[in-house]
Amino acid sequence: MRAVLCGANGAMGKLIGQILGEEIVGRVSIDGENGVPKTFAELGAIKADVLIDFSHHTAIADVLNYAKANGCAAVIGTTGHTPEEKALIFEAAKDIPVFYAGNVSLGIAVLCRLVKQAAAFFPDADIEIVETHHTRKVDAPSGTAHMLFNAVKEVRADAVENCGRSGEGKRTKNEVGIHALRMGNVVGIHEVHINTGTQTLVLKHESGSRAMLADGAVAAARFMEGKAVGETFDFVIPFADAYGPYEEEGLMELPKKMFFNGDGEFDEERVFVGNIIPMNTTDGQVIKAQVVEITDETVSIDLNHPYAGMDLHFVGKIIDIRDVTEGELQAIRHRGCGGHCKGNCGGNCGEGNCGDGCENGCGDGCHCGE
Ligand SMILES: NC(=O)c1ccc[n+]([C@@H]2O[C@H](COP(=O)([O-])OP(=O)(O)OC[C@H]3O[C@@H](n4cnc5c(N)ncnc54)[C@H](O)[C@@H]3O)[C@@H](O)[C@H]2O)c1
Repeated sequence: MRAVLCGANGAMGKLIGQILGEEIVGRVSIDGENGVPKTFAELGAIKADVLIDFSHHTAIADVLNYAKANGCAAVIGTTGHTPEEKALIFEAAKDIPVFYAGNVSLGIAVLCRLVKQAAAFFPDADIEIVETHHTRKVDAPSGTAHMLFNAVKEVRADAVENCGRSGEGKRTKNEVGIHALRMGNVVGIHEVHINTGTQTLVLKHESGSRAMLADGAVAAARFMEGKAVGETFDFVIPFADAYGPYEEEGLMELPKKMFFNGDGEFDEERVFVGNIIPMNTTDGQVIKAQVVEITDETVSIDLNHPYAGMDLHFVGKIIDIRDVTEGELQAIRHRGCGGHCKGNCGGNCGEGNCGDGCENGCGDGCHCGE
């Protein structure tokens, strides 16, 4: 394997470098110590199979650009990425194979599975996560704590993270508190407390040394080497990075007369339970709303996206890698219209606005006449 290492002078970088030895064909570390180039520009183009990144979240754009430009897979072990930086990672994964994990140890992978099982087994239990790390750690809570939360979220769609609870207000049933302790040289401890009201189960993982993490990172790099067409994939995009949380405020009860047509009659053709209709906000934006209930006086609508609050789980196989065609782009833009508008309804159906309306809801065909 030919690997480029970003963050080479850091704690993880040094350990990974020791394991891989001459398999490391390029190093980058912003401190510039030991003669290591500070940037990818300084390093220059190198033919490599994998780029391993254990540096700082702000380096991610450079890391991904280098991996794309040099056609190698990326193993991202760095944590603390902002939502925008995470979006860059998911975007890059369309072009290059990407392995991205807040914790690369096998023990944590097992812990995630156990947490998911326990959360499903005790659906009403209160769950809280506590993580402990050394004082040099710059991000909190840890990426692993987020991974554990996501394991809970896979079986509890309404779970919400509450990082570092403080101030007034009782704990809500669906929140999962995440608490970060920083002390001494602790490599990493993660505890998931599951309290049913009558008993408490604590699932705990403790890292003995960073070597375990370096071994995991190297195993991930070897796994990714040469990954391309024909490979299978199985990954989850957490709801926060997909369609956001489900928000109760999105449920609204409106007077029925708001849905009268030009003849002063209730618009039964478009407004029926289950249908998705375009609505105008006060500032003139058009948003999609799903009709959930109709009474004699009112219409209840839900402004949440149908996938809000849900983690998106993708399983599949790469059968080809090629440039997207203009026709496919059109189909993606107009997916909201069920693909019946021939891609010519103002380009807005996907956003819930196709001029005079998708009569049967965008999912049921666009009737804008185009
Ligand atoms: N996924 C995992 O299992 C796992 C395990 C351990 C650490 N981490 C994460 O990996 C990252 C590094 O951890 P560490 O303990 O080795 O930290 P560290 O501070 O010891 O090392 C970071 C290194 O990256 C370099 N660096 C910082 N910004 C850079 C940039 N923009 N470009 C190039 N180099 C840059 C620093 O000079 C330093 O040498 C952190 O985000 C940490 O949370 C993840």
